[in-house]
Amino acid sequence: MKFFIDTANLAQIKEAQDLGVLDGVTTNPSLMAKEGISGEENVLAHYRAICEIVDGDVSAEVISTDFEGMVREGEALAALDEKIVVKIPMVKDGVKALKYFSDKGIKTNCTLIFSAGQALLAAKAGATYVSPFIGRLDDISTDGLALIESIRVIFDNYGFDTEILAASVRHPMHIIECAQIGADVMTGPLSAIEALLKHPLTDIGLAKFLADHAKANS
Ligand code: E4P
Repeated sequence: MKFFIDTANLAQIKEAQDLGVLDGVTTNPSLMAKEGISGEENVLAHYRAICEIVDGDVSAEVISTDFEGMVREGEALAALDEKIVVKIPMVKDGVKALKYFSDKGIKTNCTLIFSAGQALLAAKAGATYVSPFIGRLDDISTDGLALIESIRVIFDNYGFDTEILAASVRHPMHIIECAQIGADVMTGPLSAIEALLKHPLTDIGLAKFLADHAKANS
């Protein structure tokens, strides 16, 4: 299972990269705005900076919602670095843009997926990744993990190469359950990734080992 970090914060991306488990980064316009990044040149420069830190795929989202705009923006983003994956929203022109980029060999991530039908359509259009937002579904009392299960079955039935990128991950159990279901990738905050390493018995056990060692060597 690939681990992506869902942020545009360079310090957090570096911290996850230094941990040695990072396979990529996802961003979105809200995450870029949160870091105070605005203006086309600054946005492009920020993506370049992210690409310098990570080894894997970096999803960069288009703002346009029409086909021509998505193609123009997506081509500019893809030209920045071979790590860039053009992130495209699940709208009608977005499906056309997925097909356009797929035919050109440019990687895509179809975002704002909330149903199995949307995921199927994106896969048919050749998306490299589909991003079902599990946390936002949970937020409205709908089972986000059930959506991941459903997409897994559909993609396996037909051997789609499109990878399931479980997005809007909020906590470590989301990651574990996505791994059990067989999501190809998860993207979440650094806090969810770091929470995986925590267990009180690990802390208690380590404290005892160190105390026993200190006693024996005093
Ligand atoms: C994924 O690519 C999205 O940027 C992200 O996971 C959305 O997460 P949120 O629902 O926590 O905003």
